[in-house]
Amino acid sequence: MKFITIIYLLISYSLLVLSNDVNNELCTVYVSKYGAWNNKDCTNQYPCLTIGQAIQTCNNQNKGNNINVLVQPGVYMITWSDRLPLYNANLQFTGIGSGVIFDLTYQAEPYWITIKDPENIQKSSSSNSNITTTVTLKNIEFTTIDHGIVLANSTTSIVSLTISQCKFNFSTIQQGISMFNLQSTNNQIVNIQQTLFNSLVLASNGYLLSAPNAEVVIQNSIFTNISGCLAVVQWNGGSVSFPQTTFQNNFCPCLLVSKTQGTLNSGSFIGSQSLYSIGVNQNSNLQLNSMNISNNIIVSLLSINDSSTVQMSNSFISYNTGQIFEVNGSTLELDNITMTNNYKFQLANCQSSVIKMNNIITANNIIPIIGNMSCSHCDLDNNENWTCPNPNDQPSSSSSYSYTAELTKDRNTLIIVMSSFVIVILISIVAFNIYCYRKNNQSHSSNTTSLSSTPTPSLTSLEKTPLLQSDQEA
Ligand SMILES: *[C@@H]1O[C@H](CO)[C@@H](O)[C@H](O)[C@H]1NC(C)=O
Ligand SMILES: *[C@@H]1O[C@H](CO)[C@@H](O)[C@H](O)[C@H]1NC(C)=O
Ligand SMILES: *[C@@H]1O[C@H](CO)[C@@H](O)[C@H](O)[C@H]1NC(C)=O
Ligand SMILES: *[C@@H]1O[C@H](CO)[C@@H](O)[C@H](O)[C@H]1NC(C)=O
Ligand SMILES: *[C@@H]1O[C@H](CO)[C@@H](O)[C@H](O)[C@H]1NC(C)=O
Ligand SMILES: *[C@@H]1O[C@H](CO)[C@@H](O)[C@H](O)[C@H]1NC(C)=O
Ligand SMILES: *[C@@H]1O[C@H](CO)[C@@H](O)[C@H](O)[C@H]1NC(C)=O
Ligand SMILES: *[C@@H]1O[C@H](CO)[C@@H](O)[C@H](O)[C@H]1NC(C)=O
Ligand SMILES: *[C@@H]1O[C@H](CO)[C@@H](O)[C@H](O)[C@H]1NC(C)=O
Ligand SMILES: *[C@@H]1O[C@H](CO)[C@@H](O)[C@H](O)[C@H]1NC(C)=O
Repeated sequence: MKFITIIYLLISYSLLVLSNDVNNELCTVYVSKYGAWNNKDCTNQYPCLTIGQAIQTCNNQNKGNNINVLVQPGVYMITWSDRLPLYNANLQFTGIGSGVIFDLTYQAEPYWITIKDPENIQKSSSSNSNITTTVTLKNIEFTTIDHGIVLANSTTSIVSLTISQCKFNFSTIQQGISMFNLQSTNNQIVNIQQTLFNSLVLASNGYLLSAPNAEVVIQNSIFTNISGCLAVVQWNGGSVSFPQTTFQNNFCPCLLVSKTQGTLNSGSFIGSQSLYSIGVNQNSNLQLNSMNISNNIIVSLLSINDSSTVQMSNSFISYNTGQIFEVNGSTLELDNITMTNNYKFQLANCQSSVIKMNNIITANNIIPIIGNMSCSHCDLDNNENWTCPNPNDQPSSSSSYSYTAELTKDRNTLIIVMSSFVIVILISIVAFNIYCYRKNNQSHSSNTTSLSSTPTPSLTSLEKTPLLQSDQEA
């Protein structure tokens, strides 16, 4: 434990930065529970013991900008001192085989990896235009994630985040607004594949993934039992594609999209309990094809606002409780949709919108007393089976009241459920702070003693390398 603290302190204030005169050679380093502290090169045969040691090894070789850390099975504690400021670098963590676990219990910073501009960067310089910072997490299981994992807040670097074959399991995020918070103003690319996000309680003002202006592809992945957040995935501008991705049994809205276009193919939205499952706002265009949307308890399944267009085709909508579409000032096009066994079913609450329907099959839906549509200034294009009562008027007050009352009841139940979540989270935060306070007091005293007896390279020798910059904010 003493030794671990020493090395962590050495790397903790360095920002991994590629300066123009440095070669971009790949540094491959190995980490193992059976590694040794004095293995200086972190090779496959003589691996290092910790992640921090591995990264320091690459820094020492002036190869700190293009690092592939190969990690043998075992549980690795990621601590406060492991936080990684990153810029113009390529950092990859790859689990070898199964059972590579990163435990973030003691990661007491809002984010583990922070992509940001160095202090001295020339924001307007055109030579910055191709700077790219890449983070890849592959075949790793993350547990007890207490804080955010990646924050990108650069104005100059292109940011690329890849998450492949990972698991994010049973955690409560107490700091860091979103688990992956990509707020850079240059291009952002997110690629998530074959990854499981399971049983996560997120910050009430955050998201699991927030990625404005990003190109997002999420494929063959599962988001399940996620609660507490504003939405699981949020993006605003950019583009998105979600092939074969499943959202199951979540307690906050699954998707919230604004100013963007995207496609969802062959995916599922199952068993959500929230106000809505998919929110589409501000001139967005979303296409859903071959979807299975079942067993959700929602006020409305898709909430479509502000000049957006949603096109849904070849999909099943079954066993949901609540209204299916809420369309306001927008366009909805439905083609070949089967809707069966929905409870409190209302196809749409349509305000100043256009709904085009083709080949809609319905059976065994339980329709509330108001009927299968409520409309105001609505155009139901080309359809023989659905009618808008008084399409150019407000819905009659008596009938709209009864449905609104139902919705309010559902909403109130949801609010009660969500408030209990917040109370549980608050209690945990208090308990956690007490715990941290005690922990800090303990570790302070041990840090000082271990530093004084450091046998490893001195801080002054590290400062001479061009790769390292002091991170004043830290
Ligand atoms: C950026 O990359 C493009 C394409 O690879 C290249 O044409 C351009 O010269 C690069 N710009 C700079 C400033 O390096
Ligand atoms: C991003 O950086 C700016 C400027 O340094 C700062 O004001 C802002 O709070 C940061 N955003 C986040 C999400 O950390
Ligand atoms: C999630 O974590 C729990 C507890 O750490 C573990 O028992 C379970 O196997 C994990 N589940 C998955 C799917 O990894
Ligand atoms: C859902 O997530 C919560 C919070 O992590 C956890 O306590 C609960 O056991 C999970 N439920 C299931 C069915 O996995
Ligand atoms: C759409 O507008 C309605 C009414 O203003 C609102 O309740 C709903 O939350 C909005 N949907 C989204 C996705 O923001
Ligand atoms: C949709 O998903 C539900 C729940 O997993 C499943 O029972 C049902 O068979 C699926 N429906 C179709 C048409 O795939
Ligand atoms: C309608 O959708 C179903 C389910 O996706 C599909 O099997 C069928 O081929 C589609 N029919 C047409 C005419 O596209
Ligand atoms: C519909 O959208 C308009 C314009 O954004 C807004 O003023 C109105 O409140 C919305 N209506 C409902 C019922 O949400
Ligand atoms: C109306 O319903 C009938 C019977 O379910 C169906 O065959 C027909 O395609 C529907 N028409 C439209 C425009 O969806
Ligand atoms: C929708 O409601 C109208 C009026 O109550 C009724 O004529 C029509 O058959 C219903 N359509 C479906 C598909 O349930």
